[in-house]
Amino acid sequence: MTTLPPTTTQTGTPVPSDEHSLTAGSEGVTALHDRYLVEKLAQFNRERIPERIVHAKGGGAHGVFEVTGDVSAYTRAALFQPGARTDTLQRFSSVAGEQGSPDTWRDVRGFSVKFYTTEGNYDIVGNNTPVFFIRDGIKFPDFIHSQKRLPGSGLRDADMQWDFWTLSPESAHQVTYLMGDRGLPRSWRTMPGFGSHTYQWINAAGERFWVKYHFTSNQGNVEMEGAEAELIAGADADYYRRDLYEAIDAGDFPSWDVHVQVMPYEEGKTYRFNPFDLTKVWPHSDFPLIKVGTHTLNRNPGNFFAEIEQAAFSPANFVPGIAASPDKMLMARIFSYPDAQRYRVGTNYNQLPVNAPQAPVNNYSQDGAARYHFNDASAPNYAPNSLGGPVADEALAGDGTWESDGALVRSAAILRADDDDFGQAGTLYRDVFDDAAKARFLETITGAVGGVTRPEVKERAIAYWTSVDATLGASLRLNLADGDAEATSANVAAEPVGVGE
Ligand code: HEM
Repeated sequence: MTTLPPTTTQTGTPVPSDEHSLTAGSEGVTALHDRYLVEKLAQFNRERIPERIVHAKGGGAHGVFEVTGDVSAYTRAALFQPGARTDTLQRFSSVAGEQGSPDTWRDVRGFSVKFYTTEGNYDIVGNNTPVFFIRDGIKFPDFIHSQKRLPGSGLRDADMQWDFWTLSPESAHQVTYLMGDRGLPRSWRTMPGFGSHTYQWINAAGERFWVKYHFTSNQGNVEMEGAEAELIAGADADYYRRDLYEAIDAGDFPSWDVHVQVMPYEEGKTYRFNPFDLTKVWPHSDFPLIKVGTHTLNRNPGNFFAEIEQAAFSPANFVPGIAASPDKMLMARIFSYPDAQRYRVGTNYNQLPVNAPQAPVNNYSQDGAARYHFNDASAPNYAPNSLGGPVADEALAGDGTWESDGALVRSAAILRADDDDFGQAGTLYRDVFDDAAKARFLETITGAVGGVTRPEVKERAIAYWTSVDATLGASLRLNLADGDAEATSANVAAEPVGVGE
């Protein structure tokens, strides 16, 4: 007969009961010095950490990235060298919903990959869309406020969503993706991923290139229709999380082929639109996809909190041979993520097993809340020193550089010939969506704009879609007029419908 281990306090002392607190008589007052009762309740009260300020609902798995191509002409990063094999962690997410929100609310989906490389952790923190709603990070808090909840009622609100979008016309391309089929994937396994930003790659000779990442799903791109998504949202809030977990559990490992588009460094200065503008895609005809390798998810988390909730992905995590670009969004994100994670997980979050690199960590930081790994007591804790402490590699100073005129300004980037807000959105609608997708799109934006109550915002929304495509704008106007007529005749107001609802 096996002996069960004794239940203990957090400090290892056996406890007398998990069912009865210490009381003065069986019906008397509870004793404050029942230290196990106090510890148990206090510990429970502290189980939650703040949810991510965005992308709070998600799930993920461990995997491996294997290089099958040869992009060594463009980057010297060890993880992208021919034949390299790197352990990974991937997290998928919705953007706007809170931790318990239904997976199948219409939204953009997060697509984050952490590569535990021999040169330190490299993270690609992207989405299932290649573009974004804004092009300057200073607008991000306002954008997110407009998509989440009204401070007064705590409700989502179509007026503020469309007010923000229509006053930020650079959002049109991403809103076209969001309101199209991409906004409702069938599962995380059946959607693509994009690094979205332009990044810099540097090869062994120090030559620089601009690159964009594309993850194409080997499960295909499969979506679902709005009505089904709404039913599933009610029936199974964790539909995507469950799908991923069960597939991996059954040995059906999802994979994505990883490609890059590469732009020569000098062409970045003269290309017909700003190649660092996150609201634009690079046409494949100008910059074809080059296959780098395959990313496969093959292991479920053993502990969701430890391996997914505490995971800290950051666009600031670069490795030698990969760097940032003059994308203002990317530069803002490089500040924002580690800042959020120091608050959300704690100062020493990079020491947690899921975030710790496989490469050695050598630096002069010390102490702080919940520090676990400490430098050797005899090691110097300052630099420079003459005691054999780690030294910075000055050869890396050439990575991530570009020319600028150096003047400090607050202005949009200088417009190039093909820089505009609506052109690529129109192309996506007209040339990429087929007729059925166009019909679904019109139905979706009719419902979403139909939820707007302020007439001037509704009018601006019609103008916004007219700028994307004149016929689309006219159809929307007709649909909304019909809807208003029906609502008036039935004497009911149109239901507010917003993203995520
Ligand atoms: C300046 C603009 C942006 C800011 C300030 C920002 C900020 C943040 C913050 C603070 C988090 C939570 C991090 C954490 O607590 O671990 C987050 C999560 C996330 N963001 Fe952003 N974000 C921005 C733009 C973007 C863009 C453009 C993308 C995609 C291309 C993106 C994708 C994600 C993803 C996927 C996550 C979830 C990461 C995870 O799985 O843990 N964000 N963002």
